[in-house]
Parts: sequence; structure tokens; C-alpha cells
Amino acid sequence: MTHAMTHSKLSTSVQTAVFPVAGLGTRFLPATKAAPKEMLPVVDKPLIQYAVEEAYAAGIRHMVFVTGRNKRAIEDHFDTAYELENELLANGKDDLLALVRSVQPDDMLCSYVRQPRALGLGHAVLCAEHLTRGQAFAVLLADDLMLGPTGGRPVLAQMVDIFAEHAGSVLAVQEVPQDQVRRYGIVAGEDLGNRLMRVRHLVEKPSPGDAPSRMAVAGRYILTPGIFDCIRNQPRGAQGEIQLTDGIAGLLATEPVHAYQYLGKRFDCGSKLGFLEATVELALDHPEVGEDFRRYLKQLKV
Ligand code: G1P
Repeated sequence: MTHAMTHSKLSTSVQTAVFPVAGLGTRFLPATKAAPKEMLPVVDKPLIQYAVEEAYAAGIRHMVFVTGRNKRAIEDHFDTAYELENELLANGKDDLLALVRSVQPDDMLCSYVRQPRALGLGHAVLCAEHLTRGQAFAVLLADDLMLGPTGGRPVLAQMVDIFAEHAGSVLAVQEVPQDQVRRYGIVAGEDLGNRLMRVRHLVEKPSPGDAPSRMAVAGRYILTPGIFDCIRNQPRGAQGEIQLTDGIAGLLATEPVHAYQYLGKRFDCGSKLGFLEATVELALDHPEVGEDFRRYLKQLKV
């Protein structure tokens, strides 16, 4: 098949989401000694479920998890919990039954593929290639918990809208302080207005002196299938890993890539502080505990 033919068949909708979940979660030890970090709950929902719900809200129905050893709990979470459901049914606990069943809507398909070795985020995405059916797909890093604007569209849904309008891959970005650029993929390019940038440079975790800007990639991407050849052909990058950022930088040579400054808020749940911030803010907003929690916080002498 020629390159041009591949492109003419490229859909402008996004049907598949890839969730790289093979990471060890060393920053949350000992909690993550035997349990996947993606199953850590923020209030009452595991991190991975926030990401899956965001993909579902963006119209995506095929969820691909790139898993590793010790990640069985994720598969169980998105499967029928037979004994539990029977028990709730028998006891007439209809609300809880509906809650449990809502985790996997009937029209949602889950696939699992193993990343056999921890070779980096780019490698994890490559492991999902055969499940993306030659179409553009989303990548969601569950560590980044994204809250859309109040009453507005969730972050990935905003990106799907951008993807439908503009050719090429879309990266979610936000401005970060100069002393934090070394934690992110950093983009630079031409400002197109409307929170959009045509990306010309992309570098993984630069030192503050080398960073081309302070625009940092958050853990949401819509990528075209061209990314796979780029990842396959690139050398090891930062930290000796096969970086997704390097693959996208390779894509810049042949395809447009846009960076979109999303509306909403990101919590870095890959760090203890970010995780605590998410817990406090989502708890304050929680219909069941929000009010009592607010009262509790107010009387704390901090
Ligand atoms: C990854 C990516 C980085 C991106 C970040 C967003 O880094 O490699 O480009 O900015 O996610 O959270 P990690 O957080 O896995 O070190």
C-alpha cells in the first residue's frame, strides 16, 4: 500500500485509546509493591478509571491496555465481577450493582497486550500497534488525571475536536515553570491562535537552559499511524529509553503535529503531592462526602 493510499483511508474520528500501564510505580512504594499504581484510588475511583472514562466521553469504545506483570487487577476491574454482582443482586443493592456494572459499559471493548520489558513509553505504544487497525489513536497516561472545565468538554474530547479539524497528530500541552521543564516533553513552534501551535521542535526532558519553551506535553496524545515507523527506527533517547517524544519528533519531518493548550486542569498523580492535591480537590467536589470534607478541612489548624 502506498503512503498516499494509507492517508486517504485515515478516519478523522478516533476509535482506539492506548493506556500504557506497565510501569512499576516506584514513587508510590510500598503501596505499589503488589498492587498496580493505576489502581490507587482518588476518593473512590482508581486512577485508570478516570482515564478510561475520559476516553469513553471522547467517543472512544476500544480501550487497549499495555500491561505488565502484577497488573492483573486492572483486567479484573474492567471485567464482570460475577460473585460480587450476584451478591448485590440477591441483596437488592441495585444502586451498587449499577455502579459496579457502569465500570464497563456494554459497548466498550477492552484489549490487553503485554509490554514484556520496561523499554520506555515509545516501546509501550509500539506494543499496541496491531490493535490500532492502521488508524489514528489516543494515548492516555493515567498518572495525569485531567479535569475538564466545569460544565465543559473533557480534555480528550477537546483534542478529538481539534483532530477532526486539522490534519495530523495532536498533543495536549500546558505552560509550566522554567524549573519544571526537565520533567516533561517540551514543544516549540508557531502560534496559530485559538490555543493551537504548529509544532516544529520537541524534546524530552531538557535541562532548563536547553528548553525551547515552557510548553510541556501532558499525558494526552492523538497520534497518526506514522508514529510506529518513527518509534521503530529511532535510537534510545533520554534515560536510555525508547521515548514516545522522540518518535513524535521524528514525525515532524513528514506530517503536521499540533500542540493544543487544553482547557481544564491536570493533576500529576505520578507524584505524591499531585496525588494528594487531586484527592483533596475531587473530595471537595464529591456529592457524597464533599460538604463534610469541606467542614473538616476548615477546622484543621494548618
Ligand atoms: C511522560 C512523557 C513526557 C510527558 C509526561 C507527561 O513522562 O515522556 O514527555 O511530558 O509523560 O506526564 P513521564 O511522566 O512518564 O516521566
